[in-house]
Amino acid sequence: MIDSRPLVDSFGRLHNNLRISVTDRCNIRCFYCMPADNVEFMDRGELLTFEEIERFVRVAAPLGINKLRLTGGEPLVRRNLSELIGRLSTIEGIDDIGLTTNGILLADQAADLHAAGLARINISLDALDPIRFKEVTRREGYEKVLEGIEAARETGFDPIKINAVSIRGLTEDQLLPFGRLARETGIEVRFIEFMPLDADNAWERDRVLFASEIRERLEAEFGPLVARGRTDPTAPASQFEFADGVGRVGFIASVSEPFCGNCNRFRLTADGKLRNCLFSLEETDVKELIRETGTDEQIVEAIAASIHAKAEGHEINTARFIQPDRPMYSIGG
Ligand code: 5AD
Ligand code: SF4
Repeated sequence: MIDSRPLVDSFGRLHNNLRISVTDRCNIRCFYCMPADNVEFMDRGELLTFEEIERFVRVAAPLGINKLRLTGGEPLVRRNLSELIGRLSTIEGIDDIGLTTNGILLADQAADLHAAGLARINISLDALDPIRFKEVTRREGYEKVLEGIEAARETGFDPIKINAVSIRGLTEDQLLPFGRLARETGIEVRFIEFMPLDADNAWERDRVLFASEIRERLEAEFGPLVARGRTDPTAPASQFEFADGVGRVGFIASVSEPFCGNCNRFRLTADGKLRNCLFSLEETDVKELIRETGTDEQIVEAIAASIHAKAEGHEINTARFIQPDRPMYSIGG
């Protein structure tokens, strides 16, 4: 029987989690996401306004969306982001708003974001060393990120997580420093496998540092990791704790252990397209509906159509895989 609830897809997955990209711009150039130079950004007029994003969420919340995450590009380069958070946090049914940021502008904004209602923050940082940082991001900024992390801790964000994309041949020497950071600070470090979403189309399986290998290296140094049990079965990260109770790490094994079967997420791009998967090749345009003449019912229909069209999973591990035209910075992570 086909489920008629708009947020249940044809595989029975219930979608309660909306990721909203607020800009495709970024102040660094991670090689697994953006080209190094000459990036073509969306025209500012293409971006949904805060009013338009708010309208969309007001329509989506009664369908069962209760978790939001703001992403980019780098979301903190969008002016007055805390104003958007303030608007979204008043919407009935929204009980969890998170942010994924590269941390460079966080020291300046942490207090405002927190006051506006943001609770959860993920900071993307792939190296604990300024030279490696620059190799990945092709820009300066390492110290700023550390200041941002410190500001987030002082402001009282809880939890704070670090997302570290792990690249074979580049970041192996960062694994133990990240393990130490997790043990010394209580911040959960999540190692992410490199996915084929880079603008340069240079992804190769050989460059994916698999979660199983990272785990082995951490265990050789710090002792066994014990699964914390998936408190939330839809969470992409498998979560572990060191056996001595000191330090938590997670693994987002998108390539080696796909978690599509439990996916509860869909995405709204900064230019108003709905994407039912990071890897989908098709999108549903809701910008004109939100911006112009669309009724709430038409927006609901567009959401339902996008969810119903969702594929069972990505096909990275098959010969059928086709990398989407939009790289990560333009999709929203
Ligand atoms: N593979 C894996 N992770 C990626 N991210 C961006 N591009 C990729 C990729 N190609 C990460 C960012 C951020 C999160 C939103 O996704 O580092 O932490
Ligand atoms: Fe910017 Fe994030 Fe892309 Fe890095 S991964 S270039 S921080 S948007």
